Amino acid sequence: MDTSQNYNYKVVKQFAIATVVWGVVGMLVGVFIAAQLAWPALNFDTAWLSYGRLRPLHTNAVIFAFGGCALFATSYYVVQRTSQARLFSDGLAAFTFWGWQAVIVAAAISLPLGYTSGKEYAELEWPIDILITLVWVSYAVVFFGTLVKRKVPHIYVANWFFGGFILAVALLHLVNSAAIPVTMTKSYSAYAGVQDAMIQWWYGHNAVGFFLTAGFLGMMYYFIPKQADKPVFSYRLSIVHFWALIFTYMWAGPHHLHYTALPDWTQSLGMVFSLILLAPSWGGMINGVMTLSGAWDKLRSDPILKFLIVSLSFYGMSTFEGPMMSIKTVNALSHYTDWTVGHVHAGALGWVGFITMGSIYYLLPRLSGKKEMWSVRLIEAHFWVATIGIVLYIAAMWIAGVMQGLMWRAVNADGTLTYTFVESVKATYPYYVIRFSGGLLYLAGMCMMAYNTYMTVRDGEKVTARIPSLAAAHA
Ligand code: HEM
Ligand code: HEM
Repeated sequence: MDTSQNYNYKVVKQFAIATVVWGVVGMLVGVFIAAQLAWPALNFDTAWLSYGRLRPLHTNAVIFAFGGCALFATSYYVVQRTSQARLFSDGLAAFTFWGWQAVIVAAAISLPLGYTSGKEYAELEWPIDILITLVWVSYAVVFFGTLVKRKVPHIYVANWFFGGFILAVALLHLVNSAAIPVTMTKSYSAYAGVQDAMIQWWYGHNAVGFFLTAGFLGMMYYFIPKQADKPVFSYRLSIVHFWALIFTYMWAGPHHLHYTALPDWTQSLGMVFSLILLAPSWGGMINGVMTLSGAWDKLRSDPILKFLIVSLSFYGMSTFEGPMMSIKTVNALSHYTDWTVGHVHAGALGWVGFITMGSIYYLLPRLSGKKEMWSVRLIEAHFWVATIGIVLYIAAMWIAGVMQGLMWRAVNADGTLTYTFVESVKATYPYYVIRFSGGLLYLAGMCMMAYNTYMTVRDGEKVTARIPSLAAAHA
């Protein structure tokens, strides 16, 4: 039975294309701010072009526009396919697409103009926060409504992760964004002092755990078995993975506030839960990688699988590094340095970026009535260029970070500091240039993906115009 006419692929395709577009934009801003750190003259003495304003534009664009659109696209696709049911409401789904794009455009205008709540990853001012809430509630209604309509008794594990991500992000957004508005563009946090900091980093860490991890694990559990043509290695492990991960993540936030006014026991609690987090993270990674057992040879010829599996290696790497950095004595060295930025981008470029790229490459031809992307060789080239880019980026930041930490703590025999701060900035310069080149390569890969997407969608439209049934013929 061909059920594909009964699925809403329009909104999936819109979000998939938006992922690619915002990926190029967000990474372009990333490359620009990386260049500004190496060559500060690029601030051009212009307020809206300055590093301080463009940095949150970068983080919002890559996390919420690029990552967010990818999560919408894949969750809407996966929930329909695994429930064998059309989305709960086409109208609400369309509202989530246009509403989310409106949030992104509002962010792209308000952040360079300097409007910000000052909370990292939650910078947008209150009217935009309200729009986010409306979109998110609609998203939850569409997603869970579709699950309720499902024609199969079972709820596939990918949906558990997507569902957990949607609920947790709703909770995080509502609590952390609570604020007293004073004008249309200015509000003050409902919390004060160290409570404000704790709420912010409870939010911040769970933004990593749920926005940048749980939803992407949903992608892993659907697209890796599909692309490898193998069942998930262990279904039982996937359920243990789900509950262990969501329980543990919620407690780890205080590792962002080591050696602050936060009570000491809270910091230690955050550290312990971060160390425990290694286990569920690696359990999930192993489950994904082992899904390939018996089909390892496919890695040689299939660039989409390369993206998906290498993303898991970076996931494993960053979820080993994170717990290490949460140990207070290690954090004393790493905090404030570029080591943190290296850790972030091992997760962001390697894990989030690659699992997204692999999943979108899987989806696009299927949504365009084609068997594969316009050019598989271009996917292969994208993979290698991006991988070299990541290695340059994170290696440069690791070396720079450890160097900075060691220079800042070095003392002479008489107790004075060995280096001034400016000396550490000067020593970092070559690493900033290397990071810039790595970022440029990663962006070049993303541009290849954009071109491949354009050609696939354009060709696909031609095909579907000629043979209408082809649009529905794929599985
Ligand atoms: C071409 C690729 C990219 C480049 C060149 C780039 C560059 C940068 C730069 C220069 C910073 C500021 C670092 C600092 O303040 O010292 C930054 C921060 C950040 N970027 Fe990227 N980025 C890229 C892609 C991404 C992607 C794809 C994501 C997420 C999916 C991401 C997430 C972040 C986050 C979360 C931060 C804040 C880190 C922190 O506060 O420690 N970036 N990026
Ligand atoms: C077991 C998993 C993880 C643990 C325990 C962990 C732990 C940490 C620690 C200790 C820091 C440094 C905090 C500081 O010194 O201020 C940090 C920063 C960060 N991590 Fe992780 N990490 C994990 C996984 C990940 C993953 C997979 C990603 C990305 C996809 C990620 C994204 C970030 C970001 C964005 C920051 C910077 C936050 C900021 O200061 O703006 N982490 N993480």
